[in-house]
Amino acid sequence: MLKAQSLTKSFGSRLAVNDISFDVKPGEVLGFLGPNGAGKSTTMRMMTGFIAPTSGHAFIDELDVALHPVEARRRFGYLPENAPLYQEMTVESFLSFCAETRGLVKTEYKKAVDNALELCQLQGVRRQVIGTLSKGYSHRACFAQALVHNPPALLLDEPTDGLDPNQKYEMRRMIKEMGREKAILISTHLLDEVEDICTRVVIIDKGRLVMDKPIADVKGHLFEIFRKLTAVQA
Ligand SMILES: Nc1ncnc2c1ncn2[C@@H]1O[C@H](COP(=O)(O)OP(=O)(O)OP(=O)(O)O)[C@@H](O)[C@H]1O
Ligand SMILES: [Mg+2]
Repeated sequence: MLKAQSLTKSFGSRLAVNDISFDVKPGEVLGFLGPNGAGKSTTMRMMTGFIAPTSGHAFIDELDVALHPVEARRRFGYLPENAPLYQEMTVESFLSFCAETRGLVKTEYKKAVDNALELCQLQGVRRQVIGTLSKGYSHRACFAQALVHNPPALLLDEPTDGLDPNQKYEMRRMIKEMGREKAILISTHLLDEVEDICTRVVIIDKGRLVMDKPIADVKGHLFEIFRKLTAVQA
């Protein structure tokens, strides 16, 4: 469903992502780990077509994201690292706008928006202007925009960052539930989160893939493995 094929990205002379390949099938939650600056967000930006790869390809449902950006965007939801929310819109009008831009017609998107508001527990702030939401609520509004068109694939860049313990629990529960059917790629620094919700783990370091294993192979040892593969040598 989601596929990275030899993705590579250079920023000037800096090689941020170096020949990364993996795929995520429906029913899989792939934990995407790596130290700060390893290239996780850059990889996700290429997989969603927000930046162009220097070389390599990203596919969603067999569609090359660079060649079919509009069709691709209907098939995935993306929670970016720094959520580009429209600060002056209300939560509800923002979600309607997102649903419409992803191909839903008016008769469908009212129901879709109601579903997303309910799933993300945003009914109480549906008419509030986004710029006035607290950090956690603003984050949930961004999560709601990723889900509103019920896509078969999700790319979530640190989805529980900044959430209170209750919201974190709720977000993890939702990801697990959605992961039964959808293909989900989730970047996180929380190893307990990976053990809780992921079915597979990829670790990248300095732009290169250094591990791709089922969770069963690494459960209980993730910290030692992460340190071994990514710690800066003294
Ligand atoms: N637009 C850009 N211009 C120049 N360098 C960039 C740009 N975007 C990312 N980089 C660099 O690419 C490298 C990878 O960054 P990236 O944001 O992908 O890391 P990350 O794994 O998501 O890190 P974190 O865990 O801190 O979120 C870093 O060295 C970063 O400074
Ligand atoms: Mg990042």
